[in-house]
Amino acid sequence: MIEIHDVTKIFKDKKKSITALKQITLTVAKGQVVGLLGENGAGKTTLLRTISTLLTPTEGSVTVGGYDTVREHNEIKKRIGVLFGGETGLYDRLTARENLAYFALLYGMSKHETKVRIDELARMFGMRDYLDRKVGGFSKGMRQKVAISRALIHDPDVILFDEPTTGLDITSSNVFRQLVHQLKRENKTIVFSSHIMEEVAMLCDSVAMMHKGEMVYQGNLDALYQEEGSKDLNYIFMSKLVKGNTTYAS
Ligand SMILES: Nc1ncnc2c1ncn2[C@@H]1O[C@H](COP(=O)(O)OP(=O)(O)OP(=O)(O)O)[C@@H](O)[C@H]1O
Ligand SMILES: [Mg+2]
Repeated sequence: MIEIHDVTKIFKDKKKSITALKQITLTVAKGQVVGLLGENGAGKTTLLRTISTLLTPTEGSVTVGGYDTVREHNEIKKRIGVLFGGETGLYDRLTARENLAYFALLYGMSKHETKVRIDELARMFGMRDYLDRKVGGFSKGMRQKVAISRALIHDPDVILFDEPTTGLDITSSNVFRQLVHQLKRENKTIVFSSHIMEEVAMLCDSVAMMHKGEMVYQGNLDALYQEEGSKDLNYIFMSKLVKGNTTYAS
């Protein structure tokens, strides 16, 4: 479903260049939930932006559902739902419903389809009480729920979330977790980044661990636990950074 092949991303400015991704190769099968782990600056957001067609790889290629992210980005945009931490992309002067309807319109959804989908999402996230209030006055968690709903409005097959639960309280985080379970039942493909190991351990089939632009481990969680003789993902993550041919820990 998602195929990342030998992707390098270099950001260049006047003085120097930063290699944010170094020859990353990763395949995510349909219906898989993958957790992206890595310290600040590891390249998680860059990788998610590259998959979502927002960034062009300097080298290598990415396909989503067989479509190339550079040549066929329009096909991909129809099929993916994205949420990047911090940027909710919502209009403060519109109500939650109006925001969602606006994005539904961009995806070419009919009025009826939009209404049904908004009702469904509002029920799922417990947003019915404030669906018709302006987003400008919303708390961080309320905004995040609308933003997640926005990402899912067109019922995408592939979902990319960058730190989806950062800033959410326990209740909202749990709503997100239930949502991932629900999406998994619907056979959606999900990649999300997180600094919360517990969340990744709970929700993901496999993990991709990044460090300074490199992939230091990728694979099934159960296999990883067995390989490491531990189920402590935090400990495993730290040990992966110092293992192997390279010493990653700084
Ligand atoms: N637009 C950009 N221009 C220049 N450098 C960038 C740009 N975007 C990212 N980088 C650099 O690429 C590297 C990876 O950044 P990225 O945001 O992907 O990390 P991250 O793993 O998402 O970190 P965090 O956990 O802090 O969100 C960093 O060194 C960052 O400074
Ligand atoms: Mg990031």
